[in-house]
Amino acid sequence: MSTVTPRQRQIVLRERPTGVIGPSTTEVVEGPIPTCGESQALVRVGLLSIDPTIRTWMDDAPGYLPPIGLGRVVRSMGAGVVVESRHADYRVGDVVTGVTGWQEYAIADDRHPFTVVPPGLGLDLPTVLNVLGTTGLTAYFGLRDVGRFTAGDVVLVSGAAGATGSVVGQLARAGGASRVIGVAGGPEKCALAIEEFGYDACIDYRRDDVRRALGSFAPNGVDLFFDNVGGAMLESGLDAMARHGRVVLCGAIDQYNATSPVPGPRNLTLAIFRRLTLRGFIVFDFADRYAEAQIELAGLVRAGDLRHREDLTPGLDAAPGVLAGLFRGENRGKALVVVDPDVTLD
Ligand SMILES: NC(=O)c1ccc[n+]([C@@H]2O[C@H](COP(=O)([O-])OP(=O)(O)OC[C@H]3O[C@@H](n4cnc5c(N)ncnc54)[C@H](OP(=O)(O)O)[C@@H]3O)[C@@H](O)[C@H]2O)c1
Repeated sequence: MSTVTPRQRQIVLRERPTGVIGPSTTEVVEGPIPTCGESQALVRVGLLSIDPTIRTWMDDAPGYLPPIGLGRVVRSMGAGVVVESRHADYRVGDVVTGVTGWQEYAIADDRHPFTVVPPGLGLDLPTVLNVLGTTGLTAYFGLRDVGRFTAGDVVLVSGAAGATGSVVGQLARAGGASRVIGVAGGPEKCALAIEEFGYDACIDYRRDDVRRALGSFAPNGVDLFFDNVGGAMLESGLDAMARHGRVVLCGAIDQYNATSPVPGPRNLTLAIFRRLTLRGFIVFDFADRYAEAQIELAGLVRAGDLRHREDLTPGLDAAPGVLAGLFRGENRGKALVVVDPDVTLD
């Protein structure tokens, strides 16, 4: 008698991309659904968080995590539901978040722990992955701890209408910034930044002269620049900094697809002249304080004081295209892929 092993679909890295990922970068394969061993739980994946940094993990280059191996499932944050458990921390039916990968089933254990989403949060799962997930936490700790935000600051945010930037702008506004200036691509994103996310002004980097616009929006200089973009944007922001200003190096999406080494900002000498602090960080640095941020962020969302947008695309197969679209500005809010629409929070 033969038994049929249940199968799942997975997306693996087929070749290392040059530039933006294309059809040959990844491949959909079928593999066995992993068996739930001792001290493990089996998670059915519901949602994938599509983050620009996934592109950096595809390069065989030094980073903050090891590169994704060729033939291995693409690493990704996500959310799912526990369907089988032999681990004391997980019960069947628990909704969890963690490193799911681009696949339909994942294993949670002590080496790959997931976080159980507490019941009764009053938020839906996409909101949890957005505001209480990597991007919301990055905004929270990046602005306050890394950027040492202070009421009265003139704040500049690049990637202003995106998942991270939209939370940064709103936290700065709510915290008493004297002015919050965003930079985003195109009139629609700029309108979103101002009308929905409360920016005082938004510069369209595709159309406007960013340096000149900053001169008029921040005539006395920027105190805190939260940079999600790098490259020419970082140079323009450095030009606009006030003395003793702080630059939060959060992301460099302009450079994640670079095919040759990228030179640093040409005007870095300004950091000396203006006594600037430039500080990079990875949100994991604050992992032991996530709960504190999540309680506050969830409260702000429930009170209607923090607006958020999720951009949902159905189907596991859509993940590579959604990742590529981030670099063309196609997402409107936090990019998520729905692998299983039945995985929800009550
Ligand atoms: N340090 C950390 O721990 C950490 C954690 C999370 C995220 N991040 C970083 O934060 C940044 C934003 O990530 P997110 O997940 O919130 O994504 P997002 O802002 O929701 O989406 C990415 C956006 O970046 C903009 N963009 C893409 N290519 C660009 C370019 N060449 N120049 C200028 N803008 C460009 C596009 O918006 P427009 O249409 O406005 O161009 C796009 O919609 C990324 O750099 C990411 O790596 C860092």
